[in-house]
Amino acid sequence: MIGKGGIKGSFNHENDPNAIPLPATMIHGLSKLYSGDGTAVSLYSAFPFPNRASRQLDDFGKQAWGTLSSNPDTVVTCIDTIKGEPVMRVAIADRMVSDACVSCHNGRADTPKADWKLGDVRGVLEVDLSVASALANR
Ligand code: HEC
Repeated sequence: MIGKGGIKGSFNHENDPNAIPLPATMIHGLSKLYSGDGTAVSLYSAFPFPNRASRQLDDFGKQAWGTLSSNPDTVVTCIDTIKGEPVMRVAIADRMVSDACVSCHNGRADTPKADWKLGDVRGVLEVDLSVASALANR
């Protein structure tokens, strides 16, 4: 269990031997790993923690957050052009599915919002797939 027995969840896990990545931090890490092969994963919301306070959502990100916040069961997609290449962007809601999500997000000193409830949409999980590399890998 995260936070017990001296192991803690941290967004700085790479520099701390007693830390494992938090779910969100793991997604950010996976995104770094994937970024070579035309796939990217990202997790975001209108309530970033202070370490990501400067993050700016683009138009698709704003639209995805807005739509999924009120309709969590939808899937928001588009074909976008990123660095001149067609990219398929797919966004789904990341919901507070367990008490662990809620208690950690409400309890942390650095939380940007402390009144999350079970079932709330906490963020957007987006997967981007380069159309060209998807075709090349068939
Ligand atoms: C032990 C504490 C902890 C637990 C448990 C936890 N989170 Fe988090 N979560 C964090 C922290 C800290 C961050 C910020 C990490 C970062 O920015 O690298 C974060 C970030 C996020 C983000 C990204 C927000 C943004 O705008 O950047 C989402 C979405 C999220 N968590 C959802 C969840 C969900 C859903 C669960 C349960 C399945 C969960 N978290 C469980 C601590 C926790």
